[in-house]
Amino acid sequence: MAIKLIIFLLFVIIFIKSSNAANYNVITYGAKPDGRTDSTKPFLKAWASACRSAKASTIYVPKGRYLIKAAEFRGPCRNRVTLQIDGTIVAPTNYWALGNSGYWILFIKIDRLSVIGGTFDGKGAGFWACRKSGKNCPAGASSITFNWANNILISGLTSINSQQTHLVINSCNNVNVRNVKVVAPDQSPNTDGIHVQASTGVTITGVTLKTGDDCISIGPGTRNLFMNNIKCGPGHGVSIGSLGKDFNEDGVQNITLLNAVFTGSDNGVRIKSWARPSNSFVRNVLFQNLIMNNVQNPIIVDQNYCPNNQGCPRQSSGVKISQVTYRNIKGTSKTPEAVTFDCSPTNPCRGIRLHDIKLTYMNRAATSSCKNIGGTTFGVVMPKSCL
Ligand SMILES: *[C@@H]1O[C@H](CO)[C@@H](O)[C@H](O)[C@H]1NC(C)=O
Repeated sequence: MAIKLIIFLLFVIIFIKSSNAANYNVITYGAKPDGRTDSTKPFLKAWASACRSAKASTIYVPKGRYLIKAAEFRGPCRNRVTLQIDGTIVAPTNYWALGNSGYWILFIKIDRLSVIGGTFDGKGAGFWACRKSGKNCPAGASSITFNWANNILISGLTSINSQQTHLVINSCNNVNVRNVKVVAPDQSPNTDGIHVQASTGVTITGVTLKTGDDCISIGPGTRNLFMNNIKCGPGHGVSIGSLGKDFNEDGVQNITLLNAVFTGSDNGVRIKSWARPSNSFVRNVLFQNLIMNNVQNPIIVDQNYCPNNQGCPRQSSGVKISQVTYRNIKGTSKTPEAVTFDCSPTNPCRGIRLHDIKLTYMNRAATSSCKNIGGTTFGVVMPKSCL
């Protein structure tokens, strides 16, 4: 009797599940897991079906390699969509094929999307070589971009060798990035790991970023960004900025980075702004529990950015930096100067707090330098604070 009841309940559960979810396998739409056949159209057709489904839907990408050209996955969709990827998405080897749009895989104007698993291979090497050679090259593409997307989960994804930034989160709300891996060579140009801008409520946890530019870069208009359990290096560290390139620019506020390990990276935590007039700002930032392993600039604020010395009339940044706390930051610096605060002469940094810092250079005390800064220290601060 009990067994019959259990079997009956199982059927009920299966029935409810199948009636509340729709499944779309890209293979049934003609995708070929051979890494050679262009599967862009089948993927877009599967997307169109899932997106118009009244029920929550799942698009399934089985194991195998799928060649996808520049593709735009556009919302709004009628219900939640999950993209479950067991395979590898491969960009065309010929970098001209991605055109000049700046995108490879673009998710745009979507509410409630989960991207689970998957490896995205941007095949960037050819594009980087083109740039290096000084030849005529296309604009280059970010591998995965989310524009105007809300309530997004990105979990278990791996991105390798993007032409440019691996993962871009732009003009989004409530985005959860977890267990993501980024891999590109140390010297690959502009291959930032994750770039966030004009977005509120982005959470990045448990990510490993090995790349040629910033591990995480934080652009204008980023609010309530929470990062925890981050591994960075090689790469250029976690960077707020560059900010203040434009005069009218939305600032960055309420940024938290906890439990990060930087290994052999150019920077640890950096705040960078152009030495130009601007009404932008950075405020309420917490960097806590960080380990630096042989990092060139473990802690740096650089408000003097002005490549080629062009367009910086008074060499002074309008970006106002305030309420930045550095707490429990330990490890080794690759250069003698482990802490650098080069703040704006016209807009000095304010409310900078150093709390339990211990950074050494070749087993000796490192140094620190301060320009135009106000703040306080707590606990042990080594190198000796210049605040
Ligand atoms: C600051 O960001 C955190 C997420 O890191 C969020 O929970 C909190 O509500 C934000 N605070 C304010 C004042 O918006």
